[in-house]
Amino acid sequence: MLVTMEKIVSLCKRRGFLFQSSEIYGGINACYDYGPLGVELKRNIKDFWWRSMVQERDDIVGLDAAILMHPKVWEASGHVSGFSDPLVDCKQCKQRFREDEIDPKKLEKRQCPRCGNVDALTDARQFNLMFKTHMGPVEESASVIYLRPETAQGIYVNYKNVLDSSRQKIPFGIAQIGKAFRNEITPGNFIFRTREFEQMEMQFFVKPGDDEETFHHWKEIRWAWYKSLGINTDKLRFHEHGKNELAHYAKAAFDIEYEFPIGWKELEGIHNRTDFDLSRHQDYSGKDLTYFDDSTRERFVPYIIETSAGVDRTLLTCLVDSYEEEQLEKEVRTVLRLDPKIAPVKAAVFPLVNRDSMPELAKNIFHDLKKNFNVFYDASGAVGRRYRRQDEAGTPFCITIDSQTLEDDTVTIRDRDTMEQIRVKAAGLKMEIKERITK
Ligand code: GAP
Repeated sequence: MLVTMEKIVSLCKRRGFLFQSSEIYGGINACYDYGPLGVELKRNIKDFWWRSMVQERDDIVGLDAAILMHPKVWEASGHVSGFSDPLVDCKQCKQRFREDEIDPKKLEKRQCPRCGNVDALTDARQFNLMFKTHMGPVEESASVIYLRPETAQGIYVNYKNVLDSSRQKIPFGIAQIGKAFRNEITPGNFIFRTREFEQMEMQFFVKPGDDEETFHHWKEIRWAWYKSLGINTDKLRFHEHGKNELAHYAKAAFDIEYEFPIGWKELEGIHNRTDFDLSRHQDYSGKDLTYFDDSTRERFVPYIIETSAGVDRTLLTCLVDSYEEEQLEKEVRTVLRLDPKIAPVKAAVFPLVNRDSMPELAKNIFHDLKKNFNVFYDASGAVGRRYRRQDEAGTPFCITIDSQTLEDDTVTIRDRDTMEQIRVKAAGLKMEIKERITK
């Protein structure tokens, strides 16, 4: 069974994971809205990252910096002068491309990848990816500010504040989840490359000289995180950046790539940013950003190891990785085998028999479960169809309330992946679901 991007897009629309932004106006390119199931999945992924990267560790603390920052931040970071892609236009069909994405043979002939005309491409122009806007009522150059293209800079400019207020000592990290914006030239492939997206970034501050070991350590931790998210590790690989691929701030970089239906693509970047960022902010702000190590009496500008993951790309990975069309005896069922801990809905409650007391009993069980989990209630249609709807939504457990429930207070619990059903006491249902989610 081949998972295609079209199948994922169609499932996302049908089941309410994702919608095109401003769809009733024809949509806006490369912007998406998360529907009822999508928003739950996204929250669960972010919560899982936050728990593993911040709450379960004693050497990382969290931050939530403003999206709008002083414009000098982006001069210091190198984004004003260096955060650009080479852009070429076709003089014939007017299509626009990133020069580095064109086949070198075609590029040599200045051949358009779309219309095929030779000598049709313009020279490359550098196109800055930052969105510009103005702060205040006057649109003049002095009021220009940017929508942040990465969350990392909010961490660097707060590094001293966090250090002074949290009693952390180097080595330690600061983590943040938040929106980032890039005016991408070639967005697309659904939510793989959008103009508004979310990042989960962690910056780990270390003593110069300890950077390479820490860098390799974080590569392992991040790989293990995807494994614990339930991602098939046969579809993950590391890609080391060559000298000409490295970002302006990086001394070394590895991407964790996933094999999407569109090929192997970056899911997360792990970078050794050296002391580039803090040194630049020190120069541009005039503030001392050095660290004094009490134990060795040394003063230095810390090096930074960064792990930078995209929320939307992780979500797309979870969808692609868990999607299956399973051949059953008489039909094909579409199932999302999402790890239960990130599944948008943990359980669905189905009353089976239409007796007077049944809806009330089922509703009581439903409301009781709702205190602990995100649960869905569905009383309409044949039970087989109700199961299929939940399989497509990735709901790991379905609870049926039937006539036997009235007699012995038991319910059935059906496992999404094996489709096996067992009877359990209604009173023990919460514990049963909790154990299965955390297994
Ligand atoms: N602070 C470093 C940084 O931003 P990056 O490799 O440019 O590094 C990190 O981005 C991650 O952010 C990527 O691996 C990807 O998951 C996500 N990302 C970047 N651009 C994106 C876009 N246009 N749409 C969706 N996700 C994006």
